[in-house]
Amino acid sequence: MGIKALGYLVITTAKPAEWDQFLTEVVGVMKAAGGPKGVSLYRVDDRVFRFWVQEGGEERLSAAGYEVADAAALAALRARVVAAGRPVEDGTADEAAARGVSAFFRTTDPAGHGFEFFHGDRRTDAPFVSPAGVSGFVTGKMGMGHSVYATLQFEETHAFYRDVLGFRDTDFPRFHFTDDPADPGMGFAFMHADNGRHHSIALGEMPSPPSGSVHIMLEMKTLSDVGKCHDRMRAHKVPESATLGRHVNDRTFGFYMQTPGGFDLEIGCDPLVIDWQNWTTTAHLVPSEWGHVWAWQKALEEGQNA
Ligand SMILES: [Fe+2]
Repeated sequence: MGIKALGYLVITTAKPAEWDQFLTEVVGVMKAAGGPKGVSLYRVDDRVFRFWVQEGGEERLSAAGYEVADAAALAALRARVVAAGRPVEDGTADEAAARGVSAFFRTTDPAGHGFEFFHGDRRTDAPFVSPAGVSGFVTGKMGMGHSVYATLQFEETHAFYRDVLGFRDTDFPRFHFTDDPADPGMGFAFMHADNGRHHSIALGEMPSPPSGSVHIMLEMKTLSDVGKCHDRMRAHKVPESATLGRHVNDRTFGFYMQTPGGFDLEIGCDPLVIDWQNWTTTAHLVPSEWGHVWAWQKALEEGQNA
């Protein structure tokens, strides 16, 4: 009945060459063969693609594609989305083939973020080889990673993720980014799918950025993979959004950098892998055990010291 995992991301951009360089040379994902005209595909594992980058007139995370178990689960989910009053558009057979799935439909959450839900994933026997020497990305049952959104329609959107889509709460905190006792904090919902990843989707209580995405996350196999990616970020002068650190809630070690789309990419490793039978929803007060100094925090500090 639930969602299995994050399968792929659909990104629209007017800067496909920048995305290509970012993904292959900085992140270390592999360009894949095929794709319709105006579309480039990128792999991080044996799935036929994980990034679908399409040329268009905007910088946007157009959709996150989440997998369900089978045709019956997809039909049941589609019925719940329709009953919730959200628009549904079925992918054609040709579109499904291009997505590397058996069938899918498109919809949006109450805040307008694009989603696709599919079953029947396609894999390739062609080996994954990172052009930047990444030893590998952790996917498999855990899926591609996670996708994080923001909206001031927080409660309605969280309820849609939980009651309609079938994600479950992992951590439901209010984060305080300052020491000001008057700071009301910011609500977050970290939600899991039917796999051991702490969250496959998350939602923050703040205005949605123009790109439609706060950040997306990829997990690398080793600490050295993350550190070398951090070096490549610096060498390519990609803006660092948050310094190296470790999260409290999912224990992930890593950093954030700005994608050509304006939203962030979190690169991490060594997270919690959770058995949900033994889990009670948590409510942390801060996002990070150490590190993760955000670019806006640095700018504030530099302004205060000027
Ligand atoms: Fe994240």
